[in-house]
Amino acid sequence: MRAIQADITTLQVDAIVNAANTTLLGGGGVDGAIHRAAGPELLDECRSLGGCAVGDAKVTRGYKLPAKYVIHTVGPVWRGGNAGEEQHLANCYRRSLEIAQEHGVKSIAFPAISTGVYGYPIEDATRVAVATVRAYLQENQSAIDVIFCCFSQRDLAVYDKELAR
Ligand code: AR6
Repeated sequence: MRAIQADITTLQVDAIVNAANTTLLGGGGVDGAIHRAAGPELLDECRSLGGCAVGDAKVTRGYKLPAKYVIHTVGPVWRGGNAGEEQHLANCYRRSLEIAQEHGVKSIAFPAISTGVYGYPIEDATRVAVATVRAYLQENQSAIDVIFCCFSQRDLAVYDKELAR
């Protein structure tokens, strides 16, 4: 596990994760960037998926992206922390890794799911992300290379601190 600062659409990994919404039909933030970079065929494939529940994930091809797959997951909207947000966010990371493993993915990059438009505080979300991925890799004795792709330097500092704990 490591954290970097980058635009996730540029990464040469087997799979990138998209912080999508339940429609899977695109949006702003990282979702918009991924759809722009992948091209319109991504939306065509997403239309066939019938949406996605919060905490679940679905896979598509990456089309024009360097990544072979996009794993679309739907994070929780932050409602103060007592609405099951932590469990939902952990499920996003866990389900994405399960799907990655099913597809033989050796390297995967995650954005900071839910911490943009959905308002999840970055420190709390980072704790959940790192703990969930760490537990998954240990439980499954998985050698998958996990990159936490931060958009801002501030987010990267939060991840680096959490990874060093
Ligand atoms: N590469 C990496 N990270 C990025 C990029 C990028 N190109 N662009 C933004 N981020 P958000 P959410 C970061 O809002 O909070 C969409 O409209 C961003 O700085 O993209 O899960 C969906 O359709 C932040 O750290 O996702 C949903 O409706 C992180 O990605 C809704 O937003 C997540 O921010 C999902 O909200």
